[in-house]
Amino acid sequence: MTETTDDESQNTPADGPGDAASPAASDAEPLLRVRGLMRHFPITKGLLKRQVGAVQAVDGIDFDVYPGETLGVVGESGCGKSTMGRLITRLDEPTGGSIEFEGKDITHLSTGRLRPMRRDVQMIFQDPYGSLNPRHTIGGIIGTPFRLQGVEPEGGVKKEVQRLLELVGLSPEHYNRYPHEFSGGQRQRIGIARALALKPKLVVADEPVSALDVSIQAQVVNLMDDLQDELGLTYVIIAHDLSVIRHVSDRIAVMYLGKIVELSDRASLYASPLHPYTKALLSAVPVPDPKRRTERDRILLKGDVPSPINPPSGCRFRTRCWKATEVCTTTEPPLVALRTGHQVACHHPEPVTGEPAAAGGAGGKESTGGHA
Ligand SMILES: Nc1ncnc2c1ncn2[C@@H]1O[C@H](COP(=O)(O)OP(=O)(O)O)[C@@H](O)[C@H]1O
Ligand code: SF4
Ligand SMILES: [Mg+2]
Repeated sequence: MTETTDDESQNTPADGPGDAASPAASDAEPLLRVRGLMRHFPITKGLLKRQVGAVQAVDGIDFDVYPGETLGVVGESGCGKSTMGRLITRLDEPTGGSIEFEGKDITHLSTGRLRPMRRDVQMIFQDPYGSLNPRHTIGGIIGTPFRLQGVEPEGGVKKEVQRLLELVGLSPEHYNRYPHEFSGGQRQRIGIARALALKPKLVVADEPVSALDVSIQAQVVNLMDDLQDELGLTYVIIAHDLSVIRHVSDRIAVMYLGKIVELSDRASLYASPLHPYTKALLSAVPVPDPKRRTERDRILLKGDVPSPINPPSGCRFRTRCWKATEVCTTTEPPLVALRTGHQVACHHPEPVTGEPAAAGGAGGKESTGGHA
């Protein structure tokens, strides 16, 4: 552990509590608006299935996603990222809070009434092996969304599927092949083609490259980035570390044990992380220039993420935090803006340094949506 800063300043908001989780400057309406989102999985006991507790997988999170932007969501395994992804795509139903898509409340819509929204919101899954039915041809797999939604594309399904194959860098001749004939990277391209079939507005990608070889990861991430520009897509991309999403995200939400602990535009987060957990995650990202390593010495986090069945009182990160004090045990820190477009939930945040969001200091993505 190399942390030396000892900033005991209390967490005073710069912008007031502000609107939850909006980018620095935006007058656009969010595509997705999430407030107080919760998913508690009941733990039951005995024949009568009496509830004896709950897994607090997602426990009250607020964020917006704006048209054309990429929101990256990071956090260690078990922090509730996949559960959050399944909630906002309504593959799962929240136990609290609300989700609005294009201004419409979709929090508890029934399967039937969700149908129109299913076209507009698609998910890309982590496992390119498990997510494609091995008995179906590629043509059948990518064509399924048309059949499910009763959509007949111009020129027919086959022609449209072949166009989609080309769009994701595969050959139209792959139409009659089976998933086992493809590599992991190619399968993920097939998964992307399937997700894009119905021209969705929002794509939620849950660790889309974690199962792939490192050498292939950048190709798939770049493909997603290109497709976003070409098709005007909005992304929520989930990852367990900051290296994959650093180049593609306009804004980043850091999750810890069912909560968002920091939410910021990318440049500000990389230049000046405010939450100790974010600082630790960032310190694990390889730095291309070893001379810069000294500024950002590796912080090794002790132990694992605690159980979401019985999370620590106060700040959930306190059992692993080198800055924890008494107040961290008793009082949960609220998520507040310490600078425009940069929110953190910590009683003793890191000092705010540098200019926010200026000149892309952290390198990487050019804004495509005007919200960076
Ligand atoms: N269907 C479920 N029933 C009970 N617990 C679950 C279920 N799905 C996920 N969990 C638990 O919720 C927590 C968050 O899981 P998950 O959302 O998969 O996290 P992540 O994607 O960040 O690794 C974990 O403790 C996990 O075991
Ligand atoms: S325990 Fe939580 S609130 Fe306290 S300093 Fe650490 S991160 Fe901040
Ligand atoms: Mg997951």
